[in-house]
Formats: sequence, C-alpha cells, structure tokens
Amino acid sequence: MSEGYVIPMLQSPRPTVYVETYGCQMNVSDTELMLGKLAESGYEEVAEPDNADVILINTCAIREHAEQRVIGRLGEMKSRMKRDAVVGVTGCMAQRLGSQLLDRVKHVSLVIGPDGYRDLPALIESARSGIRSTATDFDLEEHYEDFTPRRFDGVKAWIPVQRGCDYKCTYCIVPTTRGPERSRQLAEVIRETEAVVASGISEIVLLGQTVNSYFDGTHDFADLLRAVGSMPGVRRLRFTSPHPNDFSERVIRAMVETESVCEHVHLPMQSGSTRTLKRMLRRYTREGYLECVDELRAAITNVSLTTDVIVGFPGETEEDFEETLSVVRAVGFDDAYTFKFSPRDGTPATRFPTSETVSDEIASERLARLIATVRSGTRDRNMKLLGERREVLVEKAARRGGLLQSRTRDFRVVMIPGDASLIGKYLTVELTGTTGSTFIGKAVGQRASLPLAV
Ligand code: 5AD
Ligand code: SF4
Repeated sequence: MSEGYVIPMLQSPRPTVYVETYGCQMNVSDTELMLGKLAESGYEEVAEPDNADVILINTCAIREHAEQRVIGRLGEMKSRMKRDAVVGVTGCMAQRLGSQLLDRVKHVSLVIGPDGYRDLPALIESARSGIRSTATDFDLEEHYEDFTPRRFDGVKAWIPVQRGCDYKCTYCIVPTTRGPERSRQLAEVIRETEAVVASGISEIVLLGQTVNSYFDGTHDFADLLRAVGSMPGVRRLRFTSPHPNDFSERVIRAMVETESVCEHVHLPMQSGSTRTLKRMLRRYTREGYLECVDELRAAITNVSLTTDVIVGFPGETEEDFEETLSVVRAVGFDDAYTFKFSPRDGTPATRFPTSETVSDEIASERLARLIATVRSGTRDRNMKLLGERREVLVEKAARRGGLLQSRTRDFRVVMIPGDASLIGKYLTVELTGTTGSTFIGKAVGQRASLPLAV
C-alpha cells in the first residue's frame, strides 16, 4: 500500500434527530423502534432539540393534560429550534388529531400515527423539501419485525407482543388511537428476546394493552410466558398491563410454573363499584375483580399487586367512591396509579348526561383521599418487611444521595449504596429502612461484594 498521501474525504455530516417521548411504556418502546429505524437510515440521535435537523414528539392522548403539554412544548420549541428543522408529531395524539394538527401548529410538518413509523425516513425526506404530510392509517399487519430498536435501558428490555385494544372501555381513547388488537407471532418474540439476552439483558417486560389476551393464532399468553420465561438468560419476566378477565387458569398456571415470572402483577381496577365498572364497560364486577385477586394470591405466594384507578367518572357518587376505597383497603395494593377522569372526545363516556359530571373540586378531593389511603396501606405493609432479605437487580444510579436504585422481584424499589459497576447485577439485600414507599437496603451475605453473575 502506498504511503504519503491522505486523501481528504468530503463527508456531509449525518443529519441529527431529537425525540421526546410522552405517555406509557408502549410509547417508549415505539420511540426505540423509531430511533432504530432512523439510525439505520443514517440519522444521529441528539439529546437536545436546539440544533437538531429533525424533532419528533411521540405523544400520548390518554388524558387532556398530556395533549396540552405537547402543544405547550411545541410552542416552546418553535423559538429555540433551527429555522429549517423538520418537526413531527407521532403517537396517539397524532393519530387522534391527524391533519388538524397541521392546521393548528404551522411549524409541524409531519403527523404520524402508531402504525406509520415504517415510512418515517421517507416522510422526513419529503418534509425537508417542504411537503407536509399525515400518515394515520392503521396497518393490522404492522409489528415492525425488521426494525432493530435502539434500547434506552441496559438492564431491562420492553418487548411489545401486542398492539391495539379490543376492550373499548367507555373512558378510553386507546382503541381509537392504536386500533384493534393484534398479537405478534410467538417466534418473533423469541427472536427478539434472544437478541436482547445476547446483549446482556436478563429482565424482560412483555408489553401489550391487554397483554394477557395475547393470541397469535396458535399460542396464547400462557404459551408465551412459558416460551420466553424458559429461555436461557431470562432471569426475570414481567408483563404489563393485563386485563382481569384474561387471567385464565392456564395463564395463572404458566405464571406459577415458570420460575422467571416475577411475583408482581399490575392489575388495573379502575373502580371498586360495580355500578361504575358497568358504566365504564370494564366487563367485571367488584366481586369478579376480587375473585381474580384471590386466585392470583392463592397461586402465587406473596404476590405483590399494583393497580390503576380513575376517580370522578361520570355519575360516580360518594358511595361508589367509598366502594373503591374499601377495595383498595381490602386488597392492600403495593402501589396505585391514580387519575381524575378526563373526558376524551369521541369516547362513549362523553355522552353521559352533563348532570352526571363530577365537579373538578369533588374529583380532586376524592383523588387526595384515594392517594392517602393507598399510601397508608403501603407504608404499613412496607414497615412489616423491614429486616427481610430480597434479591434485587440494580437498575441505575439514583437521582440523589449517591445511591443506586435496585428492584426486587415483587417490584419494590430498594436504594443501596454502591458504585455504577453494580448496575445490571443481582444482589441479595436486607431491607433496613423505608420511606413508606421505597426501601433502603444493604447488601448481605457472601455476595455482599460479589454480585452474582448474570
Ligand atoms: N381519564 C382518566 N384516566 C384514564 N385512563 C385511561 N383513560 C382515562 C381517562 N379518559 C387511565 C386508566 C388506564 C391508565 C393507563 O390510564 O386508569 O388504566
Ligand atoms: Fe383502554 Fe380499556 Fe383497552 Fe385498557 S382495556 S387500553 S383502559 S380500552
């Protein structure tokens, strides 16, 4: 090879993309897919919008507030972004508002719903030459199988196994924004899990809107749990969110018999009043929900339960709300995500008579009582766990105090001292203190300084 000359290469810098994500884990997973696709098309990801060539906001539409934040954020970005940056809105709010968003926000040139990410690079290219477009058709075959997600988390991997929802609860916009339910083929889920495990990740979270109704035409959720859960290298398997009606005996048996399935179920309840549940079209009663809890508790020793609850649903009376509080006390949830009802255009819940609207004042007051009830139950239960030992997986550096954040199999957060080299490792810890919601722990036993290999 001749020496002496260095031939200068005229390289145009790679175009940059900034993505901001709102909403649920499914959206985070979609962002991972979009960034994977864009990286493959030559884009470089950047952490700030200011100098990005492309700005994408991956949005949520589940509550009014989530959409207002996005509109505010788009306004803010306008004054900071590069003059010729392409701004795109993706996700549920894009699907819901479609081309209205182009009319409403002039510096947005792309509106792409959850099934339209395959065309992202092409749509960005045309936006760069001034063509504004909307892509909001559903594609019931689309699972982005050939995309390689750019994973944000090095410790656990979220794997979508199902898209859309067929339940149509009366308050919920998701069936409109994500379309009908469809499941990925089991073999594809296995393929993705193999790649994840090969990259050193040992905790898998299967994602779907009603994940335990998974059915790929041959295999159900029980098959999926057994197949993924028994793969070498999968040490912890979780899933979110299930629907109480889809916990068949088969599914519960698969959970029990698959060692990697963690002892935690996030079991959205929404309300503890049968009357309200009926108006929500949740398709179970208070008693039906409690039966599901009993079945899970009987099958899985010390299973930890968390939930979602909505207060102020149209027509909810004080008695209805007290029924919710009584289930919260009876079940003893380890945590609850609590929401004030937010009317979403086009959903059946907006068609109840206005005389049934619960005022914001009453809804806020109920929310505060609900949160206080959840917290006091959690605190009492957590106090009783002090002194116990648990296996934790170290997730990340905690925001404060120089501690690490780790998690038990039953989804409790334990802060422990240690350095970043422990991230991704399993340790046995003793629970030494609690704030009421999270724990402080210390590594114990022989493995104190010798983390188990993954
Ligand atoms: N208003 C308030 N909360 C809602 N959720 C869904 N739709 C609404 C709404 N219109 C809550 C439910 C669901 C969680 C993801 O968001 O509790 O389980
Ligand atoms: Fe919405 Fe109900 Fe479907 Fe959950 S099950 S996504 S709450 S419609």
